[in-house]
Amino acid sequence: MKVVVVTGGSRGLGLAIINRLLEEDYRLVAISRSCSNALQDLMHRHPGRITFEPYDFNNTTEIHDLALRIGREHGRIYGLVNNAAVGHDGILATMHEKDISELLKVNIEAPLLLTKYLIRPMLLNGQGRIINISSIMAGTGFSGLAVYGATKAALSGFTRSLSREVGRAGITVNTVAPGYMQTEMTASLQGQKLESIKRRSPLNSLASVEDVASGVSYLLGDSASMITGSTLTIDAGSTA
Ligand SMILES: NC(=O)c1ccc[n+]([C@@H]2O[C@H](COP(=O)([O-])OP(=O)(O)OC[C@H]3O[C@@H](n4cnc5c(N)ncnc54)[C@H](OP(=O)(O)O)[C@@H]3O)[C@@H](O)[C@H]2O)c1
Repeated sequence: MKVVVVTGGSRGLGLAIINRLLEEDYRLVAISRSCSNALQDLMHRHPGRITFEPYDFNNTTEIHDLALRIGREHGRIYGLVNNAAVGHDGILATMHEKDISELLKVNIEAPLLLTKYLIRPMLLNGQGRIINISSIMAGTGFSGLAVYGATKAALSGFTRSLSREVGRAGITVNTVAPGYMQTEMTASLQGQKLESIKRRSPLNSLASVEDVASGVSYLLGDSASMITGSTLTIDAGSTA
């Protein structure tokens, strides 16, 4: 069974991705700070299919060790989904430097380092899939999300150049850009604001975490072997 590492697999989109990939022939390594009840429940229902690795991406100095441990325990991994992120918002002029620093560490430095170390076994294998979860905010912009948007745009740039670097080794690198999804990250956005996001969608709807997880599953599969360096936008048409 191919092994796929999913960061931020404890809840929200990451958990939906784990759930979706369980329908296929993958073994999964979920990484986040804590293991949620929902993830524990999935682990019990699918014995031997999911391993939980606790790690806090605020600490970037032990990511190399984390990658080596994953390699030792699970062999050469096939796929990496860089999904974990924080969504701190705030007007730049008054934002705490601590929040800016956490956004840069967790949302861009950590996925970059984890990819650096997990891509090595992929290079040896001559195959692999990297999927970076960005956001439509990388291309559109939203007041109060300047730093978050910068990290998401950085991930898209990372995808494009890395795809050129590793394509010859049979590794694809793609971005998935979700629109607004209802998770803990967006729990504060409700009521009128939520309705107006829905109204702007040609489908008069929001993409769910399951919709986005299907996109990730597609990019990991054999049918997507000729797709690299691209962005799959899943936003119910909000940015059309
Ligand atoms: N929700 C949206 O509308 C939306 C839209 C576009 C893009 N996105 C992107 O989609 C991805 C998933 O978002 P979500 O809505 O599912 O967020 P979420 O519900 O807040 O989940 C975030 C996940 O990341 C993990 N995480 C956060 N900080 C971490 C840290 N320091 N170290 C390790 N793990 C950490 C969390 O687990 P622990 O707290 O246990 O560590 C959790 O599993 C993110 O990349 C986000 O930017 C979301």
